[in-house]
Amino acid sequence: MNRTWSASVGEAKKKVENGVADGSRHESVALVVGVTGIVGNSLAEILPLSDTPGGPWKVYGVARRPRPDWNAEHPVEYIQCDISNADETKSKLSKLTDVTHIFYVTWALRFTEAENIEVNNLMLRNVLQAVIPAAANLRHVCLQTGTKHYVGPFDMLDKIEWHEPPFTEEMPRLDCPNFYYTLEDVMFEEVAKKPGVTWSVHRPHQIFGFSPYSMMNLVGTLSAYAAICKHQGLPLLFPGTKSVWESYSIASDADLIAEHEIWACASPKAKNQAFNVHNGDYFRWKQLWKVLAEEFGIKEYGFKESEKPLSLTELMKDKGPVWEEIVKKNNLKPTKLEEVGIWWFSDVMLGTDTVTSSMNKSKEFGYVGFRDSAKSFDHWINQMKSHKIVP
Ligand SMILES: NC(=O)c1ccc[n+]([C@@H]2O[C@H](COP(=O)([O-])OP(=O)(O)OC[C@H]3O[C@@H](n4cnc5c(N)ncnc54)[C@H](OP(=O)(O)O)[C@@H]3O)[C@@H](O)[C@H]2O)c1
Repeated sequence: MNRTWSASVGEAKKKVENGVADGSRHESVALVVGVTGIVGNSLAEILPLSDTPGGPWKVYGVARRPRPDWNAEHPVEYIQCDISNADETKSKLSKLTDVTHIFYVTWALRFTEAENIEVNNLMLRNVLQAVIPAAANLRHVCLQTGTKHYVGPFDMLDKIEWHEPPFTEEMPRLDCPNFYYTLEDVMFEEVAKKPGVTWSVHRPHQIFGFSPYSMMNLVGTLSAYAAICKHQGLPLLFPGTKSVWESYSIASDADLIAEHEIWACASPKAKNQAFNVHNGDYFRWKQLWKVLAEEFGIKEYGFKESEKPLSLTELMKDKGPVWEEIVKKNNLKPTKLEEVGIWWFSDVMLGTDTVTSSMNKSKEFGYVGFRDSAKSFDHWINQMKSHKIVP
């Protein structure tokens, strides 16, 4: 991987042992909200490294479930808290008076966009209202949203007229409800209460990363599908449209997003700005499909023309017992298939026309990070394997 900062996790651990991370010699203190998510886990790994810009960093991380072992190797102070509960959030997060930077990398999914707006606004407001008055040295809030800023909510993708891609950050908001818009507005409103606190918004595309706790993890989902095909001796057929199979797509590596967010915290020019963030290259799914097939030792793979694109929601609906067999046979971490395979998300991403966004603004503002998407895809499949989530 082309990591912008190359220090190892081992080095970061040594630093903690040496007392650099004991609270007295930190330049910056991060609060990562959603620390076990697909980008939260990358932030938890990268922030404590010795050469991370803005550091040395002390890191607090928040999520609801008990800390999983795959996240526990990062030197982060873990706080179990449900941020949709205002009292719990206030009591747990207002104690963190040394926080200098908030990384908001979480969300909630409901049935309608009106419900999404309500719950996501509540969660962000709870965090900001707990931390901003308490943290005297708070300097910056990073809010992660995504490309849906330009195409609207999942259930309205084919109903809205978009601006012409590649999407650029200054394009006006679409005339439809979108929880990303109201999250920005909540952040602007709360941050304005404390003069001097700055913000940045980060808009990734489909994320390639590692987290079995993510609500949208395409690499994990496709790896689980491939493992099932291999186990049952089935061909690895592409569950999407011919146009997605053949056209140019973009993706955002989770480590790259984490680096982009950290860059915005450390770079004076990047303050109070929104940025797209993706790998900066193009790939075709037919190229990545070969990578997936080879990783799982499947010889027969490809796209098969049919009236309707294959749907993983349909194909995988009865595969729970097959997954149990795979977990047992390969001595994997115990997981339920629905935790690892987020079929609806894959169906949306591979079944809808591809769109692109521009990285020019980030480059003009000084961010030059990039990833090779094929290598990124392969890297995260191997993370899933090395953590024994897939065989
Ligand atoms: N994933 C993608 O491919 C993708 C692509 C583009 C944009 N985005 C956007 O990026 C933003 C962040 O999403 P993500 O995909 O990075 O997140 P994610 O991987 O789904 O992770 C969510 C994290 O938040 C925690 N969490 C959820 N509800 C919580 C609550 N009530 N209180 C405390 N912690 C909570 C989760 O752990 P617990 O469940 O244990 O609490 C987990 O650590 C969203 O706006 C999303 O739409 C994502």
